[in-house]
Amino acid sequence: MSRVAVFGAGYVGLVTGACFADLGHDVVIRDVLPERIEALRGGAVPIYEPGLEELLARNAERLTYTLEVAVAVRDADFLYVAVGTPPTYSGDADLSAIWTVVDELQGLERRAVVVMKSTVPVGTGAKVRARLDERGLGHIGYASNPEFTAEGTAVRDFQQPDRIVIGAFEPVDADAVADLHAGIDGPIVRCDVASAEMIKLAANAALMTRISFINEIANVCEATGADVVRVAEGVGLDRRIGPSFLRAGIGYGGSCFPKDSLALKQLAANSGYHFQLLNAVIEVNELQKRRVIGKLNRHLGTLRGKTVALLGLAFKPNTDDTREAPSLVLAGRLVAEGADVRAWDPVADGRSILPQATICATPLEALRGADAAVLVTEWAELADLDWAAAASSMRNALLVDGRNMLDPTELRAAGFTYEGIGRAAGSGSAGGSV
Ligand code: UGA
Repeated sequence: MSRVAVFGAGYVGLVTGACFADLGHDVVIRDVLPERIEALRGGAVPIYEPGLEELLARNAERLTYTLEVAVAVRDADFLYVAVGTPPTYSGDADLSAIWTVVDELQGLERRAVVVMKSTVPVGTGAKVRARLDERGLGHIGYASNPEFTAEGTAVRDFQQPDRIVIGAFEPVDADAVADLHAGIDGPIVRCDVASAEMIKLAANAALMTRISFINEIANVCEATGADVVRVAEGVGLDRRIGPSFLRAGIGYGGSCFPKDSLALKQLAANSGYHFQLLNAVIEVNELQKRRVIGKLNRHLGTLRGKTVALLGLAFKPNTDDTREAPSLVLAGRLVAEGADVRAWDPVADGRSILPQATICATPLEALRGADAAVLVTEWAELADLDWAAAASSMRNALLVDGRNMLDPTELRAAGFTYEGIGRAAGSGSAGGSV
């Protein structure tokens, strides 16, 4: 069994650490935030990720938490870097947290491998390698081992991956990282470091492209009388296309897609290449978030003085993450149009992100007296809501289903004027669960 140091106790670091501990390795997780480390030591998990708390608790004897680099590095075989790489003003990834980790590494007498889990621009590994060499750390290996875990299913994605990608400069380092994953079933893709870095960016870009593609198809469906839910089903059954990531809606958000698309766009631009398709994908997504406002305006005439309920704030269900969530753009636009915003989410902390909105404890409370509702996040709670009661409690029973989650026929029977995304009036049944 190996000793693994993980730098960064965010979504990626905690899931990585917990899953390696579950494989039997000794894991020490290091973060710079004292309150975060204190909480973890006390058994509290600072983020909402299904299954993570149990996994950390079950493997507590193999998991320690520290603020000290020296403690993390001591006897470590692997130095996993799982710190944030947020976008800078220019759209490039901010790698300062990564450089801090690399520069703070100390006491590395024995051989260990620095493994990059954070999403980085292509070429970062080569730069880190050069920095390690400059610091006289030529005996320390380097590998890129990007993550493909999605929030909400991160533990499962780590434990049952579609693939494990390992890029390394030396085969011995790739072997070591592959061995570290013993016990996890999944094909291993071995390659050079630059290709591993690109696989991560390209995979996310491919997923975003599918979403913007189906959103554009949805917009054409709306204009022509087709139902995008049925269209996606019919298209996705083609084995060459497949059904995943063909859910039309109000656009993608989250801590990864928006940031990674910008980083890839800038990476290309910095190298003198204009990535046309990716630019279009980003633009379609921006417009998609705003189309809801057009729908509301069309029904309500004006939004000034109207009350709009936002159902769901997280960028997707089963997470409390609201980074780049469509709800934020929507709320901002609604306030700018003079509407009052009421909002509900079962886990996201609405008060801190939407100070201009009234945050409600239940969906029904948010809907009471409202002139319109927008289903923003497809939380399971909303499938079981008493929609007839909701409709009669509203001043005007208009629902824009931003995720095509609900059955239009049922909602209309419950008294709603129902609008989905890409579903012509009067068409369709409930959205698929792909
Ligand atoms: C995404 C990828 O799915 C992971 O493989 C990757 O590891 C991760 O980014 C990352 O780079 O760290 P995540 O952002 O957690 O994971 O969430 P997704 O489930 O991919 O959803 C992203 C957004 O796309 C959400 O806002 C979701 O509502 C939207 N989406 C997804 C659609 O609008 N339509 C779809 O068909 C699928």
